[in-house]
Amino acid sequence: MGLKESTLKMLGRLNPKILSTIEKSAQSIGPVRKKMDAEFEKITEDMEKSMKPYRERFDTHKCFPEAGRDREEILREMEELRDLERSRWEAGYASGAVYHGDPEFVDFLNRAYSLHSQSNPLHPDLWPSASKFESEIISMTGNMLGGRDQVCGAISSGGTESILLAMKAYRDWAIDKKGITNPEMVAPTTAHAAFDKASQYFNIPLIRVPVDDDFKADVEAMRNAVTKNTAVLIGSAVSFPHGVIDPIPELSEMAQERGIGFHTDACLGGFVLPWAKNLGYDIPDFDFSLPGVTSISVDTHKYGYAPKGSSVILYRNSDLRSYQFFAITEWPGGLYCSPTFAGSRPGGPVAACWAALLAMGEKGYLDATQHILETGERIRIGIEGIEDLHVLGDPLWVIAFGSETLDIYQIMELMTQKGWSLNGLHHPPCVHLCVTLRHTEDGVAEKFLKDLKESVEHVRNHPEEKTGSAPVYGMAATLPFRGVVSDLLKKYLEVLYKT
Ligand SMILES: Cc1ncc(COP(=O)(O)O)c(C=O)c1O
Repeated sequence: MGLKESTLKMLGRLNPKILSTIEKSAQSIGPVRKKMDAEFEKITEDMEKSMKPYRERFDTHKCFPEAGRDREEILREMEELRDLERSRWEAGYASGAVYHGDPEFVDFLNRAYSLHSQSNPLHPDLWPSASKFESEIISMTGNMLGGRDQVCGAISSGGTESILLAMKAYRDWAIDKKGITNPEMVAPTTAHAAFDKASQYFNIPLIRVPVDDDFKADVEAMRNAVTKNTAVLIGSAVSFPHGVIDPIPELSEMAQERGIGFHTDACLGGFVLPWAKNLGYDIPDFDFSLPGVTSISVDTHKYGYAPKGSSVILYRNSDLRSYQFFAITEWPGGLYCSPTFAGSRPGGPVAACWAALLAMGEKGYLDATQHILETGERIRIGIEGIEDLHVLGDPLWVIAFGSETLDIYQIMELMTQKGWSLNGLHHPPCVHLCVTLRHTEDGVAEKFLKDLKESVEHVRNHPEEKTGSAPVYGMAATLPFRGVVSDLLKKYLEVLYKT
């Protein structure tokens, strides 16, 4: 911060390890640290103001109320909060986030949820219905993704947990079955951040491989990154940033030839692509129909239209899955086993997920997919028609766009001011809209394109303006000191937990 552009450029060419050492030494120099702390304090204050909108209007509870509050009054307050937040996502102003959101469907899910708010799948003796729901969700999902008899899985709390579970399983499988002492993962740069999280949590080195010009995994570059330590290759269908499908047939064949694992991350696309294929779209294979695919993560709480808190991790066979399971025999608390990271698990999300899959049925998923893909196509064509913008890659419904001439983050900022909550991406700088059923409602896509056109025109006429998050993204893209940006992100998390 405050560094001259020429210095930044020079530092940007240095080796990241050397940079990190310089950064640590620079931060330990009193005046540099002091200046940074002052900058951080200011940024944190600004963040706090925008992230805590209810401080003026509602009481803050730092301690328990002395006597319990009136239940109706609590519910009224919660309903007021819900109403303040609902209109934005309901009207389609969010990217992803709420994937179905039709009020009647939400009411139905809430009823299913509340029927099981007390259940815990860790205790199948008390709630055998929970294990019925879980096993049937796995079976229906596996069946949708080309699974035969041996395909099996587990229910997790979301895409990240599914990915973490699978990577932990590959690590232990590779050590046990392949004699690899330091197992590694190989993934395209565009694979989800959850793989970095797995790398950090479980000490599995992650080799990130640059993608090709279409933002898809580069098969030859992936081949070159494979070593005797590689336990698993990874591909996305579709990728979070640009919504494209990696060449899974080629990558999974490579993994099969080498006798290692291949994980398809279908968290975002798993409940769309099979139905798109049925509708006649040209979708390359990405699931268990390919013999080299050994596991798939697929999120019921996205395009499965279940409420938040469920995802499925599928394995080609139970041998691989067994490396995910946990069992302990010598604990004074008794014989203990659990399939995922949590001990006790909430039964509500599982029950509501089961209800969602049954209520949608094949026809429901086909219709939903058709609406989403048609809307995605209209939005994509609309963006391509706006001067100064271009679409990245060849996406279906997760549409990333950038600009060669204008500051795309300033355009995003103006969209934010108009109520839109889009995803800012970088390397290269761009923004994406993840189309959901919310955007298929009358007039939403048109409103998005109109607002986007106006925002682009404004930035074209006022290129000097930099407001909101635009300077932060600009800084993150140019600053060679990644640790500073990472510190800032952790400050953001600290602010979230402040009362
Ligand atoms: C491709 C992909 N993988 C994994 C995830 C992580 O899912 P979650 O946010 O449910 O943990 C996402 C989330 O958007 C995703 O798009």
